[in-house]
Amino acid sequence: MCGIVAAIAQRDVADILIYGLQRLEYRGYDSAGLAVIDQNAHLNTLKRQGKVATLADLVATEQPRGGTGIAHTRWATHGEANETNAHPHISQDRIAMVHNGIIENYKSLKETLSGQGFAFKSQTDTEVFTHLIASHLQNQSSLLEAVKQAKQQVTGAYGTVIIDKENPDTIVAARSGSPLVIGLGLGENFVASDQLALLAVTRRFIFLEEGDFAEITRHKVSVFDVDGNPVEREVVEVNASQDTNSKGQYRHYMLKEIFEQPTSIRNTLEGRVTTDGLVDGIFGQGFEQMLKGVNHVQIVACGTSYHAGLVARYWLEQYGHVSCNVEIASEFRYRHFHTVPGSLLVTISQSGETADTLAALRLAQQRDYLSSIVICNVDGSSLVRESDYAFMTNAGAEIGVASTKAFTTQLTSLLMLTLAVGKAKGLAEDKQSLITHALLGLPAKLEQALTLDSHISDLAEDFIEKDHALFLGRGDQFPIALEGALKLKEISYIHAEGYAAGELKHGPIALIDADMPVIVVAPNNELLEKLHSNIEEVRARGGVFYIFADQDAHFESDETCHVIDVVSTDALTAPIVYTLPLQLLSYYVAVIKGTDVDQPRNLAKSVTVE
Ligand code: F6R
Repeated sequence: MCGIVAAIAQRDVADILIYGLQRLEYRGYDSAGLAVIDQNAHLNTLKRQGKVATLADLVATEQPRGGTGIAHTRWATHGEANETNAHPHISQDRIAMVHNGIIENYKSLKETLSGQGFAFKSQTDTEVFTHLIASHLQNQSSLLEAVKQAKQQVTGAYGTVIIDKENPDTIVAARSGSPLVIGLGLGENFVASDQLALLAVTRRFIFLEEGDFAEITRHKVSVFDVDGNPVEREVVEVNASQDTNSKGQYRHYMLKEIFEQPTSIRNTLEGRVTTDGLVDGIFGQGFEQMLKGVNHVQIVACGTSYHAGLVARYWLEQYGHVSCNVEIASEFRYRHFHTVPGSLLVTISQSGETADTLAALRLAQQRDYLSSIVICNVDGSSLVRESDYAFMTNAGAEIGVASTKAFTTQLTSLLMLTLAVGKAKGLAEDKQSLITHALLGLPAKLEQALTLDSHISDLAEDFIEKDHALFLGRGDQFPIALEGALKLKEISYIHAEGYAAGELKHGPIALIDADMPVIVVAPNNELLEKLHSNIEEVRARGGVFYIFADQDAHFESDETCHVIDVVSTDALTAPIVYTLPLQLLSYYVAVIKGTDVDQPRNLAKSVTVE
């Protein structure tokens, strides 16, 4: 949610900043800007509404010079997406600031600052923070000290970087609730909200911790903790491949990431599952022992990750022999919940930075949970660092804003977690072996599911004139119906709903007519007969069907019923296999409609605000 890049170097940094913003654009893309200080201590600020490419064009024309700079790509929170509200924000033609997060008490601060003569150009909370720092800078020469004092007056969340044209050899960064990482170069240093932005210039990083702030020069990085004490933070070598940033032969990152899923899931399984079962210790030291005391699992997540949690509930209750509750993080954190004794908290997050999920974890840490584990794709992220245990999905960087491979690797990880819980709870050997073999067979099944690609791209034509769609599933396919609907709406902007098929007759069936396509996920499982009956109820009311069904499920195509054969698969991993055709359907509908598939309107990849 918004992206920050900053650099301090001997060379001109504008191109480094633009490159970094392009890497971060998936986090927010309604406006972008940068500010650099040149050799004559002149602050040069360039901003554009729209995507980073429009700013890049401006930078190519203007060629701003200077070795100290900050840049930002925005996902608007306060004030509409226009050039005035774009970052960096400037105060006194002296300091420039970029900021991720939300300053909650900005209104009262604004009143005070207005009283002191500060004039406001934008509608943003960030401009208030900028003027606040400038007001402290009037009384001392150190930018670091001014930021430290301003920090004490703001409430809310921020990851921020500030430069001062009168101290051009220093940049100051501060983190509270929104991640920041410092990249270490040779005679040059960098800051970003995600290390991905800096992989072209360094692989060595310091991840700032909650409350940290830092003073960064070309040759030195000084980090201070929340109380202002100097601290040493570990330097981490990141081994990410640059190749994740290329679309390769694919038209969109989303399509590339859909097709990567067999490989991603091999990576999730690698070194963790063999034909003998789970490898010992893969969840971390003491985890298996701890599981013996667990009798309830509380899952908390948002969006697609929440849907992964909903599937896991079916698995954990059936094979893990524990009760399980799954809740959206933004609801969980404000509910007066009761903690079931012997509870394990499981958070699920691709980014590891989702504000609501992180807040839920922090809240749960004050309660009586036995332990916490995060299922996450980003190493070093806040959820990974703050949970008792972290299990990495190993999906590789996901750039498309709509989650695809992150979701299926989450599901794979959750099935492994189910196996671990089952083992701890005395699940019979033959059942353990069933899960193991289902997991190991998964990449091949996914490869087969992807052969539906051209068939689905043809079907997608049927959807382009539609305004609504309904997705139906039962049992552990109900969350897959929810996920199919979410994917369609977020990238094609067609209104879609996911429903448990048995619930349809309790209201939504009133919506059925020939203009409402009904997409059904129908693997060959114990609920198939029930699903057949639900489908007949809709059929009798003129519904038009697209049924993704197991070859052995006995559905026949006719004028109003399109049956798409999906590879036969065991019931256990069917939720993962059936996700892929639904991803492809959304993708092709969006492509035909001409929407911005990788960066759909109003969205951002990492939601670091509440
Ligand atoms: C949808 C999507 C979002 C995220 C949600 C949580 O395609 O990607 O719904 O799943 O914002 O994000 P994470 O998993 O990073 O916590």
